[in-house]
Amino acid sequence: MNTALPLETWSPTSWQSRPAAQQPRYADPAKLERVLAQLGALPPIVVSWEVDALRRQLAEAEEGKRFLLQGGDCAESFSDCESSRIAKQLKILLQMSLVLLHGLKKPVIRVGRMAGQYAKPRSADTETRDGITLPCYRGDNVNHAGFTPLEREPDPELLLRGYERAALTLNFVRALVDGGFADLHHPEYWDLNFMQHAPSREAYQKIVDSISDALDFFEAISGGPIHETSQARFYSSHEGLLLLYEQSQTRFIPRRNRWYNLSTHFPWIGMRTAAIDGAHVEYFRGISNPVAVKVGASMDDAWLQALVETLNPDNEPGRLTLIHRLGAKDIERALPRMVEAVRRTGRRVLWVCDPMHGNTETTASGIKTRRFENILSEVQAAFRVHHEMGSVLGGVHCELTGDDVTECTGGARGLADVDLARAYRTTVDPRLNYEQALELAMLIGSQRRP
Ligand code: PEP
Ligand code: CO
Repeated sequence: MNTALPLETWSPTSWQSRPAAQQPRYADPAKLERVLAQLGALPPIVVSWEVDALRRQLAEAEEGKRFLLQGGDCAESFSDCESSRIAKQLKILLQMSLVLLHGLKKPVIRVGRMAGQYAKPRSADTETRDGITLPCYRGDNVNHAGFTPLEREPDPELLLRGYERAALTLNFVRALVDGGFADLHHPEYWDLNFMQHAPSREAYQKIVDSISDALDFFEAISGGPIHETSQARFYSSHEGLLLLYEQSQTRFIPRRNRWYNLSTHFPWIGMRTAAIDGAHVEYFRGISNPVAVKVGASMDDAWLQALVETLNPDNEPGRLTLIHRLGAKDIERALPRMVEAVRRTGRRVLWVCDPMHGNTETTASGIKTRRFENILSEVQAAFRVHHEMGSVLGGVHCELTGDDVTECTGGARGLADVDLARAYRTTVDPRLNYEQALELAMLIGSQRRP
């Protein structure tokens, strides 16, 4: 495999000559074409200036000067496009970012897994229930979760509905961030009831008080609210899974003489679609956005190195993020080899830890969950290993929600397997709830740097 293909051999459709995993099969090609033409004509959701600004910030994170917080739902659903849910999601991410800023003493880049995270890779193409086999549910951008032939039929119209919701979501997020939603220093704004249950209650209270004091101080000397002075940017990201959708959002920007995917700032390639000669890697190599790839222990050195060389041939700062998702049990063994393999390419990458996807398990009663202690332990191991290897852990990637769900066990409130039934809402992976997410940020921020 020639990993150094020149950019001239790339076009927004060149991926179509490669095997494309995880794509739905649409029954009506004419309808699909109509939808794609409409998508291509609608205005973009993000603009190239923002995308370039994010790439510059990610370049600083590679050097340890910033820290990336990327988080949100495993999959957004169309019904989540609703004001209070979006506000809650933004609130938990902004509060986590303040806690991390306070603890790590560096600016935090805030990226939501939101405004477009509507498609999911699945382990099988079909699902069988009571002897009936139907196409699997691939996310609201593709079909519906209900188990009837009509609901499971992939419908191209849903791509338009997803595009509209992504735009509505990001529009609301931008307005909230610009309009003063970052008014986070009021203690009543933080839901801190869980701290009563935390063994480190006093330490947590100190963190919150000290953030509140720091914000007051900053606003006193700057003479204005924090959101006006801190350029509180917020970026969007989603897994770039449905290549026809991504292709339709790929626009040529003459100012830069490059192609951009303007459906999101920061698309990523999932583990299941990261084959080096596959369609996803081909599509991603030609867009100018900063891009990420999920990487796991099953990837050998040659695969990792080919990904780095293909996706960042010019060794461009901020261009490529590797999100490792190894599991608390495997990270100490697997990560050093991966860091070493990437180092041998001589190219820079941003290393980010996803402590969620390697720590999924199923309870005795068959519920998919993750344990808070494993999530925390993987992040701590990631900091330690990168430090020992002389490399930089530049961020975390989490599945979380601002809602009071019960999907992951543990945390200060000590959720047990039996509690999961109370508010288990995810249709895909289990997420940290508001309290667990905030606690994770506090523990990351307050741990001693090695
Ligand atoms: C995800 O991020 O929801 C996901 C499917 O992750 P991965 O590609 O790492 O398995
Ligand atoms: Co997930």
